[in-house]
Amino acid sequence: MKDTLILAIESSCDETAASVVKNGREVLSNVISSQIALHTQFGGVVPEIASRKHIEKINQVVTQALEDAKVTLADVDAIGVTYGPGLVGALLVGVAEAKAIAFAAKKPLVGVHHIEGHVSANYIENPDLEPPFVCLIVSGGHTHLVIVKDYGEFEIIGRTRDDAAGEAFDKVARAVGLGYPGGPKVDKTAKEGNPHAIEFPRAKVEGSPYDFSFSGLKSAVLNYINKAHMTGEEINVPDLVSSFQNAVVEALVSRAVLAAKEYGYDKLAIAGGVASNSALRAAMQEACDKAHIRFYHPSPIFCTDNAAMIGCAAYYEYKKGTRHGWDLNAVPNLKL
Ligand code: KG4
Ligand code: ZN
Repeated sequence: MKDTLILAIESSCDETAASVVKNGREVLSNVISSQIALHTQFGGVVPEIASRKHIEKINQVVTQALEDAKVTLADVDAIGVTYGPGLVGALLVGVAEAKAIAFAAKKPLVGVHHIEGHVSANYIENPDLEPPFVCLIVSGGHTHLVIVKDYGEFEIIGRTRDDAAGEAFDKVARAVGLGYPGGPKVDKTAKEGNPHAIEFPRAKVEGSPYDFSFSGLKSAVLNYINKAHMTGEEINVPDLVSSFQNAVVEALVSRAVLAAKEYGYDKLAIAGGVASNSALRAAMQEACDKAHIRFYHPSPIFCTDNAAMIGCAAYYEYKKGTRHGWDLNAVPNLKL
């Protein structure tokens, strides 16, 4: 059978990325131009600056992705691109680039949901993984518990009622002076701390066993810091972030494993930037082993934003017949 090559583009937040993916699973190239250093000085992503940087980098990143994969545009079967959710100005750069390439090279255009991309990252290194399975999606903007019924087909069974998991990591990191992006810094610092040093609240959403709430936990951490400042008590940062991380991990693992058991699935995957958290991966592996559930996770490079995951998702959409027209627009709040 003839191979199918997708050239994929991702620009929904602060990474300008392009990738060539073969048959939905094999990554031939994965180019990521990160803007993290640029946004660090502001303590978070500045949308206007992100858009301007994307426009500067996008052609270079796409050219590099084709070169690394040792293919030309003529070899590519379709152009995949993230068209939402995300920052509108950032998304528009990728969408306009993909449309221009598809038009000029006479290739089909396949718009992809960013979160479908995150879920699909699991297909890259797990050739045996096929739907249906349960997936916990934890990124900077999203916390969803879904059943992946088929490729690109999701049933949402739980979501956050307030902050996303990644957002909580970023806010707590900022409060203790670890800087941006908070997740990886908390992960590293927590390794030197005691996860049971401080007992933070574990929020439950009444009547919704699969929903999450992190704002109470975040407030508890901020109150702890304020109280310490007022009393002049010294804060043990590793203990503090380790205890916070432990509370987040417990909330995520307990609900995800409960969902797999209750809905009767023996496969559980995680996706999104927070899925690269080492404590989450370890706790999830342990809980899944105990429950005889197979646990899947992408390598850290495929957890945070990248275009390879968009190429995987675009492949399955392409196979299903999804095609977008020249009127494809960025949809900042695109629903799953
Ligand atoms: O998926 P992603 O790259 O972008 C979005 O689609 O939002 O996720 C970024 C989020 C940020 O909040 C970042 O702090 C968090 O993922 N993150 C982590 C880790 N690496 C990234 N959170 C916890 N532990 C990590 N190791
Ligand atoms: Zn993302």
